[in-house]
Amino acid sequence: MGEYGRKMVEGNVDELIAELNKAYADEWLAFFYYKTAAELAEGLNHEAVADKFNEIADEELHHAEELAERIGQLGGEVIREFDEIKAQANCKNVNIPKDPTDLKGFLKAGIEAEQCAIKVYEKLLKQLKNDYKDSITFHVIRHIMQEEVEHEDDFETLLG
Ligand SMILES: [Fe+2]
Ligand SMILES: [Fe+2]
Repeated sequence: MGEYGRKMVEGNVDELIAELNKAYADEWLAFFYYKTAAELAEGLNHEAVADKFNEIADEELHHAEELAERIGQLGGEVIREFDEIKAQANCKNVNIPKDPTDLKGFLKAGIEAEQCAIKVYEKLLKQLKNDYKDSITFHVIRHIMQEEVEHEDDFETLLG
């Protein structure tokens, strides 16, 4: 982003970029774990569960792209090293069950992961409104959070 776009943000832009990078790391990890869950799921009716993990994984990757775009606009740079992705993430693990036929366990892991993401974005939205007063990033994060809420609901629906 140009100089004026950066100045539009109140508060510490570098801190905001760091927060966005932590969320960026979360999205990469969610993508990785959900693709892995889709691959590992076995047993009766595992297709529906695998399809859902694949579908949501693609949306998480898209979230990473949206965050990356905003980080760039703010004059920041995305995390370059995968070690740093793991180190900086807020939500570091999706607890995929050892038993690949434990599909309920898979879905519960997905729900937990979505709840972690929702909490992160809820906090970030408050900061964007009250501290950074950054309506553009607010809009991006609100859109992402809305999809996280849908993901949680999708997993819950499959869990039954
Ligand atoms: Fe996401
Ligand atoms: Fe999600």
